[in-house]
This record gives sequence, C-alpha cells and structure tokens, in this order.
Amino acid sequence: MDSSSMHIAMFPLFAMGHLTPYLHLSNKLAKRGHKISFFIPRRTQSKLEQFNLFPDLITFYPINVPHVEGLPLGAETTSDVSFSLGPLIMTAMDRTERDIELLLKQLKPQIVFFDFTHWLPNLTRRMGIKSFQYSIIGPATVSYVRSPTRMRQNMTERDLMQPPPGYPVSSIKLRSHEANFLASIRNWEFGSGVLFYERLNNGLMLSDAIGFKGCREIEGPYVDYLAEQFGKSVLLSGPIIPESPKTVLEEKWSAWLGRFKDGSVVFCALGSEWKLPHDQFQELVLGLELTGLPFLAVVKVPIGFETIEAALPEGTKERVEGRGIVHSGWIQQQLILGHPSVGCFITHCGAGSLTEALVNKCQMVLLPQLGGDHIINARMMGSNLKVGVEVEKGEEDGFFTKESVSRAVNIVMDEENDVGKQVRANHAKLRNFLLSRDLESTCLVEKIVMEEENKVGREVRANHAKQEFLDKA
Ligand SMILES: *[C@@H]1O[C@H](CO)[C@@H](O)[C@H](O)[C@H]1NC(C)=O
Ligand SMILES: *[C@@H]1O[C@H](CO)[C@@H](O)[C@H](O)[C@H]1NC(C)=O
Repeated sequence: MDSSSMHIAMFPLFAMGHLTPYLHLSNKLAKRGHKISFFIPRRTQSKLEQFNLFPDLITFYPINVPHVEGLPLGAETTSDVSFSLGPLIMTAMDRTERDIELLLKQLKPQIVFFDFTHWLPNLTRRMGIKSFQYSIIGPATVSYVRSPTRMRQNMTERDLMQPPPGYPVSSIKLRSHEANFLASIRNWEFGSGVLFYERLNNGLMLSDAIGFKGCREIEGPYVDYLAEQFGKSVLLSGPIIPESPKTVLEEKWSAWLGRFKDGSVVFCALGSEWKLPHDQFQELVLGLELTGLPFLAVVKVPIGFETIEAALPEGTKERVEGRGIVHSGWIQQQLILGHPSVGCFITHCGAGSLTEALVNKCQMVLLPQLGGDHIINARMMGSNLKVGVEVEKGEEDGFFTKESVSRAVNIVMDEENDVGKQVRANHAKLRNFLLSRDLESTCLVEKIVMEEENKVGREVRANHAKQEFLDKA
C-alpha cells in the first residue's frame, strides 16, 4: 500500500438502504486507490457482490448476526423484517461488538465509517483507530433535528415546526403533522433499549468526524452549521452520482415508453419501503389519471391488499388503457429516468432518487413520506433550491388529493407556467453543475487524511507512519 492510500473499514447499519450507499461510497474510494474492508451480514453478501466494482480493493468480511428473540430465524437486515422489528436488528448488531473488536484488531484499518452503532467510537478510540460517522440521513435533516441547540429544547410539535436557532435556511419549516411525527419518535427505542435520537447523538458527539453524501453547493450551509455546533470536522463525500448501469432497459419498458412523445410521460416511483394507505393510493392513481398524460407508476401494493389490481379505483383500468400503468416490483429506475419519453418524476425524496433525478432531464414532483429525511429533502428541493414542486398536503392530516397531485405535475410540465419555468431553469443549472465538474475529486476521506491543518488527519497520518515502520521492522 503506498503511503497516500488508506485502509478504511465500513460498518453501516444492516439495512439495504444503508449497505448500498456505503458500497457506492466504497467504490468511489477504491477508484482512488484506497483499500476497503466492508463488514456485511453473512447471507446478505451475495446480494451486494454484483455492485462491488473493485473486488481487488474492496473485501467483504461476513458478520454473523446473532439471533435475537422476536426476530424470524435468519433475519439479518431491516429489509428482511417488518418496520416494527427494525430495533431488534439493531439489538443484534449491538451484540456483534466483540466480533467487530477482534476483526478490527486483525485488520488494523486507519478509520472506521459507521452510522448507528453508537458504541463504535469508544471502541475504536481504545484501539487508536479513528471513527467517522457517515450518515445516510442528510445534513439538512440532522442539523434540523439534532443540532445541540435543538437538543436543548423539549422537542415538542411546536418547537419542531420551526428550525432551531441559527439554522442557515429559513425557508425550511415543518407542517404540524410532520412536526408531530418527529415529536412522537422522541421516545422511540431503537435497539438494546437505547433511544433512536440518543444513538444519533452519541455518534455525533463521540466520533472523530462526521460526514455526509453531498456537495458544498447544495449541502454546504448545513454542514458549516453542524461543524460550528459540534466543534468538529464535518465533511462531504461528493454527490456519489451512481455509475451508469451496464445493463439496458428491459425491452417491455423501452417498447412501452417508446410509444410516447419526448418528455411526455410521468414516471412515479415511491421507493422500496413505503406502502400507501389505500385511500392515498387511490388519490395518487386518480391524480395521475387527471393529468391526462401517459404515466408509469411503480408503487408497493397498498396496505391491506394482495395485488395492485384489487386496489385500483373503480374503472381506472379501462379509462387509462394504453396510456397508464400501475406496477409493483423492482424497476430499473435510473434507466427509466434517462429515457427520453419521461418528462416528469414523482419521487418520495429519498437521497438516492433525488441524485438520480437531478442529473437527469425530467422535472421533479416531490411527494415525501414521513420518516427518514424525506420531508426536509423535499423542502430543500422545493422551497430552498426551487428545482421541484411539492405536492400540497393537508396541514393537520398530511393527506394529499388527486387534485394536488395533478396540479403539481401540471406546474412542472406546463411550458407557460411561471413557477414551472423557474423550476426547470434551476434544475437545468444544477444538473449542468453536477455533471460538469469532477466533484468527487474533493473526496472526504482524502480531505480528512491529507489536509495538513486537519487534526484527525494529522493523527491518522502519524499512526499510519508508525504502522508502516512496524510492518517493515
Ligand atoms: C463512551 O465512553 C464514555 C467515557 O468513558 C462514557 O461516559 C460513555 O457512556 C460511552 N458511551 C457509549 C455510547 O459507549
Ligand atoms: C421544557 O419543558 C419544561 C417543563 O414543561 C419547561 O420548564 C422548560 O422551560 C422547557 N424548556 C424549553 C427549552 O422550552
């Protein structure tokens, strides 16, 4: 290993939505010559191997996930179980501490990236290894919810409707049903009897540095705010634009999309986790129908139903024959977004989907779900950057209607609409920016490690030199 390349261990939450972005980041780091040891649940390894683009530099280390009472046998990730069992997966992960310690002793990485295992910073500190909290939840959300000024509040619904004191972007606020949801998870236990927020806090306070996916042009203000609030390095990894898939779009979708004019199809994809209640599912489908445009909706079968067909509104199937499809199941989202016929993307505002949308030409309609960072992401895209239009929802109940869905689509698709014009222009500017520069050349780990003035970096470099000396001796 040459002296400028690092050995980094990755230990993300055992959830596909965390393992996958950690692997994307690993690919970016390996591309720059760094060696990665990736800790992964044993039976999940085969699902992710295909995304390892640098097998000679990225090595998977299978972890046995202990069985915890209440979990189905063999469950390893939150994606293997229902939402309510997620905390037990976290408990199981907490019980790997001893194995992780042994593995770190043997591998001797310089840095460990982690997110929810809040005990990790104390462990690595004892071993002279640096810990880096690489958060999948975006910096706009983390700073809104967990800045030290926020932690000093009581986190009531009223508190949470407004950003915390000093928050850099005043246009980001929450509606009462959203603030109410955040307030309600104050006492949510997330594994081993530890509160969710407490895990997040411990990681933020105890880690040597904090990092996020993103770039300064979008996330800069939040990152500066966090750095000031926590008094430690907060770094960005670049937007991690996914490498173009090597596969082509399935024939059935390319043939169907190919029947429509350029930029005319509305594509709606609400992520792999979110199940709509039946009435909201129906409003969504009726809203798509109301746009009068061709549409492809990829959603999960709504709560309480066995199939999509059974849940569709009365008569929809006949009315949209030939111009509308409602589908459930996995779909090649990135390739569909790049298809010339697709003009509009209705998204649940997951970070990965937003990045894919921003680098494509279709216009964004924002339909965030509660939970994760989707709401604040939607505000950031809609109210702050103005690169998309959010679907209106009821202030108290958070429900959207078919009219609000169709209105948002019409705004971004209407050539004459002033808001639509502005949104399209802003999106085009941001897309060109994201695609034009080598944003990843300002890669975070290198920043920590190489920056002369960075304290963590100085220590890592010193330890690294010592280790090299010992290895040679
Ligand atoms: C980390 O170590 C400190 C100091 O020993 C201790 O007070 C704290 O409870 C530990 N935190 C965790 C999450 O292990
Ligand atoms: C939090 O609630 C307590 C009890 O209601 C109150 O005394 C205190 O002033 C509140 N703190 C803040 C920062 O609002």
